[in-house]
Amino acid sequence: MSAATATILRNLNLDPAAIYIGNARRAGRGEELVARSPIDGSTTATFNQATASDVAEAAVEATKAFRQWRIVPAPKRGEFVRLIGNALREKKKDLAALVTLEAGKITAEAEGEVQEMIDVCDFAVGLSRQLYGKSIVSERPNHRMMEQWHPLGPVGVISAFNFPVAVWAWNAMLAFVCGDPVVWKPSEKTPLTGLACQQIVQDVIKTLDWVPPAISSVIVGGRDVGEALAANPAFPLISATGSTRMGKQVAQVVAGRLGRSLLELGGNNAMIVTPTADLELCVRAITFAAFGTAGQRCTTLRRLIVHESMKQPILDRLGPIMQSIKIGDPRTSGVLMGPLIDKDAADAMDTALATAKEQGGTITGGGRAKGFTNGVYVNPAIVVIDAGAPITRHETFAPILYVMTYENLDEAVAMHNDVPQGLSSAIFTGDMREAEGFLSPAGSDCGIANVNIGTSGAEIGGAFGGEKETGGGRESGSDSWQTYMRRTTNTINYGHDLPLAQGINFDV
Ligand code: UN1
Repeated sequence: MSAATATILRNLNLDPAAIYIGNARRAGRGEELVARSPIDGSTTATFNQATASDVAEAAVEATKAFRQWRIVPAPKRGEFVRLIGNALREKKKDLAALVTLEAGKITAEAEGEVQEMIDVCDFAVGLSRQLYGKSIVSERPNHRMMEQWHPLGPVGVISAFNFPVAVWAWNAMLAFVCGDPVVWKPSEKTPLTGLACQQIVQDVIKTLDWVPPAISSVIVGGRDVGEALAANPAFPLISATGSTRMGKQVAQVVAGRLGRSLLELGGNNAMIVTPTADLELCVRAITFAAFGTAGQRCTTLRRLIVHESMKQPILDRLGPIMQSIKIGDPRTSGVLMGPLIDKDAADAMDTALATAKEQGGTITGGGRAKGFTNGVYVNPAIVVIDAGAPITRHETFAPILYVMTYENLDEAVAMHNDVPQGLSSAIFTGDMREAEGFLSPAGSDCGIANVNIGTSGAEIGGAFGGEKETGGGRESGSDSWQTYMRRTTNTINYGHDLPLAQGINFDV
């Protein structure tokens, strides 16, 4: 472990071990996990992973904690989340440095990710006083109907390497104010960030005597741990973020026990550029959306659907930009693209580009960036290709942008929607009719549809997620909180008669 890594771990009060159930930390009995930084391949931690049996223990503790936590008034639960937000403000730089170390994202983006956690804490604090149910008029005299939202139970969270802390926070902060404990399986590629979040939460809990520590647990392990979470009926809700392949497996296991799953899976996000688009704005948006985070966001722009007249002007601008995007150590100022997470990711990029070429694509860029012996650094790639090419239907988690052209907008929207995924989308246009059409029921079929903004970098205040193979779940803002609670419908009779609904007479 390098001295810099040791400093970050010390600042975060972190002593890595695979299992952290409430405030009890211990080693796993599973295989050894060697955590590495994608920046240079250096080892950041070595420890034994957890196994499926550790999930059962976390489930028991979370269930006990739930009994206590569900009766703490929601605004009080919000107070706890407010304190987590404060702790995150204090630890922002250190936690972001760990995100950079483990996920390889540039400092500005890592700090942005921690900011996203802070924002969702603020959102959840407000929400803790707004878990509103409806009041419903009754058809019977002297009766009243209402609905209440009650805590649901322990929530199992499975998250991916690319947003190693924010996605947990979206789930956990909402779950906490909703009265639910969380058992989290972070990605094995980014275990330390998971443990650091747990440490921050437990350090807050230590100062409070009304929060059961087991409302938060982290289990670092592989597939068997994820499967055990999905299968365990102690978790009425499993929230999983990651690949569509993983999501399908989780969904089937959870459905098998009639549990609830919240899925945020693959995206294959597109932007339509019409003749009236502001070219400079649109090129800036493309640059961040396609190449930011080295193409490793689920909201990354992967397909650019441009009007024929806009193709050359856009390519002429993107060419020099691609040359000047600085690739390298994500901690270095000025660098905009860090490494891919691992060699498998770079191999997947190579394979996708080779396939695109076979399918008639013309490729600019791609391949390994020069000058790096450790870590996997790639050049961004632009592929001009036919919309019908099968490769454009797949999400490759890498900086590849497919560019395709259209003649009329209906055709563009049809191309846009003709993929299995449905997460994020955008249109660049100066024409109000085109913009509104894209947002209309006959427009984009995605969970996120933007006008004159790229596909990535959503704010936490909106519901986040998408349709089709993206899984249908919504996390973070708006009314996503309802997924973390159970609704009860209550009918109260304050009269002296017992009229039955639907006019039924059952008098003996
Ligand atoms: C993800 O990639 O899983 O909208 C989440 C965005 C971020 C979240 C991405 N706020 O790009």
